[in-house]
This record gives sequence, structure tokens and C-alpha cells, in this order.
Amino acid sequence: MLGVGGGIAAYKAAHLLRLLTEAGHEVRVVPTEAALQFVGRATWAALSGQPVHTSVWDDVEGVGHVRVGKTADLVVVAPATADLLARAVAGRADDLLTATLLTATCPVLMVPAMHTEMWQHPATVANVATLRERGILVLDPAVGRLTGADTGPGRLPEPEAIAQAVHAALHTGGRRDLAGLRVVVSAGGTREPVDPVRFLGNRSSGLQGYALAAAAAARGAEVTLVSANVALVDPAGVRVVPVGTALELEAAVGAAAAAADVVVMAAAVADFRPAEVAADKIKKGAQQEPAPIALVRNPDVLAGLVAARRSGTLPATTTLVGFAAETGDADADALQHARAKLASKGVDLLVANDVAGGAVFGRAGTVVHLLTPDGAVAGPIAGAKAEVAHAVWDRVAGLRAATT
Ligand code: CTP
Repeated sequence: MLGVGGGIAAYKAAHLLRLLTEAGHEVRVVPTEAALQFVGRATWAALSGQPVHTSVWDDVEGVGHVRVGKTADLVVVAPATADLLARAVAGRADDLLTATLLTATCPVLMVPAMHTEMWQHPATVANVATLRERGILVLDPAVGRLTGADTGPGRLPEPEAIAQAVHAALHTGGRRDLAGLRVVVSAGGTREPVDPVRFLGNRSSGLQGYALAAAAAARGAEVTLVSANVALVDPAGVRVVPVGTALELEAAVGAAAAAADVVVMAAAVADFRPAEVAADKIKKGAQQEPAPIALVRNPDVLAGLVAARRSGTLPATTTLVGFAAETGDADADALQHARAKLASKGVDLLVANDVAGGAVFGRAGTVVHLLTPDGAVAGPIAGAKAEVAHAVWDRVAGLRAATT
């Protein structure tokens, strides 16, 4: 169920609804009367394909306020206004949305959006704390441009970020099972400059790494996302460190890894970089053939982390997760190559995907196998990258539980 409060950000909830239905969810929309001032009933009905009621008197024979709350797998309220939070805390039931909140037996996710003054008011601060104590998931609002000229905390997080939080809440049943875990995720693909306008790059979109960061944050982990050249919305509640090259990525991951429990290297790191970066743009010139670009080896960041753990620079308890983008060839299939890579890399978990024909890059869905040093192989795990992300965190949580 998608509850919509009466704030200007209600228009973004229409996009959220779209994302949820496209992900295959059946969504019942319950706006407040005030929400309909911003986005009309017809929009919610058309996008959800379901009737739209706001009052407990709308669907009396169906006892909607009880049925909707009891049958939903998740209630997400976006935007949750200051007034709506207050009414939820007080246990009011003066419209269908608040009545549903009282009858809901499923996880409830509230996504506040309001002016900064309202968000920081002691009344709202206390209301959010009370809701969280009661087990309601309350996302922190994003920081940025608000309705007027003002900026600050209070913006509704982007619909993509809310959809990721919805996915996580559905996966864990609303539990923040990774609370207390500090994780570092690298994502995207490094770019190695050739001259001021050209670089050697790769086709990594960053989707899987971002999904991993979003999933971990939604499950309560403290997440640093080292992001190499990614054009995606920042996941909610994640510290993003942008980097360009492999050397920058190595420095950023190294700095964050020192205080991390888990490092997931999902980034596609260039193995080589041009030995020299031309100070000026390389011209076509008159010569027939361009001069070859000499390459030098980049550090293997993951191997560096494994070595640091072995030497004691990183704690022995740090869990290290690698990715392998493999294709089968004449010698072995993709999974056999992944087994060999797991052994050679010395990681605790290898996420292997078959990228033959570029099948994975930039796509929402993927297929992976999860390999561990004990020889266990889970998979194939096929699904949206968000689903695969949760499967990876389930496995990481299992590995850590087994060693502590
Ligand atoms: N990786 C890294 N530093 C590099 C290259 C790769 O940390 N310079 C990490 C990747 O983030 C990934 C794992 O190592 O988690 C496997 O990367 P892969 O693309 O398979 O690269 P290679 O190990 O170089 O394997 P190959 O020689 O088969 O290309």
C-alpha cells in the first residue's frame, strides 16, 4: 500500500508508484484528502489500476480500513508530512490512511518530506523517534532544494531511492538486520586518462554496486560507496565518495576499509593505465599511424586488501567480497573460471556473473553465482540487481555469523 500525504512532493510519489508497479508489485494507493490537492484521484487510480479511497466511509461494505492494512505486505507512506507523522504518533484514525496505519500488521516505511524548520522542530523530532521506537521504518529526508528558494534537509528522497528501501523492507520483513555493520562498496568503472579529453574505460554502469550500497543501508548498515564514474541517483543514507581512476579508487577504498567490517569490490577497475598522460590533446597529425599507447599495470585493489588483512594492517575479521565478470572460453566455462579466481584472489565470497555478449552491463537484471572458499556455490541467482544485492548481503551476514 502506498499512502500519500498532502505535501508538494506527492507528485514524486506518482513516479514511485510507477517504479513499484513496474517491479511487479500490486499497489493500492491511499492518499489523504490534502494529497489530492496536489495530485488528483484519477492519476492514482490510472497508475495503480485500483480504486482510490481517502475516507473510511468510501468503502464501508469492504471495511477498507481493516482490509487494506491486514492484506498489505508493506505500507509505504511517501511523502509523510509533519501532520501525518503527528497523527500517526497520536494513533488518530480520522481518514483511511491513518486508520490503515493502525490496522497494518506488516512493516511500515515512512518517508518524510517537509520544510527544514518543520523537520527540525522538536515536535517532529520527537514524533520520528517515537515511530522508530515502535518499529516503524522512517527514512531520513534528503538534503537539497525545497519548494521555495530554501534548501536543507526535508526533501523527499528520489523515487528510485525510496523504491530501494521498499525492496529492502519487503526482503527483510522490515528488520534492520545489518545495523552496526560498517561496509564499503566500490561501484562503477574507472577511467584512465590518455590526454585531457580521452580515457580508457569500461562498460560498468555501477547499477550492481549502487544496489548493494542501497540494500545494505536500507538494512541498517553504515555504508561508504566509492563511486567511479557513475550516473545514478545516490542511494538514501549512503556516504558517496566519487573517484575517477584506479589509483583514486585504491586510495578511497583503502581509507574507508580501515574502519570497515565488510568491503565489497563491485567496481570494474582498469588493470592498466597509460604510462603517460599527454598534457595536451593528442592531434591526428600528419603521420599515418598514431603512436602506440604504452600501458603500465594498476594496483589490484582487492588483492591489496587481502594482503593487508594477511599482514595485519586490516583486521582479520574484515570480510572481503570480490566480483568476477567472466566469460566461458575454450579452456573452461564461466563458473570454472570463477572457481579459479576465488582461489587466486583469497576473498571470502566471490560474486560471479557471466558477461558473455555484454549481457549484464547497464541492465536491471542479472544472474550470479556466489562462491565461498569452502567450495559451496549458491546459484544461479537470477533477478533484479536489487534482489541479487540482498542475496549477497544474506550470504555475507551468514558468513559473519558463522565466524563470530
Ligand atoms: N579488481 C581490483 N583491482 C583491479 C582489478 C580488479 O580490485 N585492478 C577487483 C574487482 O573489483 C573485482 C575483482 O577484482 O572485485 C575481479 O576483477 P576482474 O575483472 O575479474 O579482474 P581480474 O582479477 O584482473 O581478472 P582477469 O585477469 O580475468 O581480467
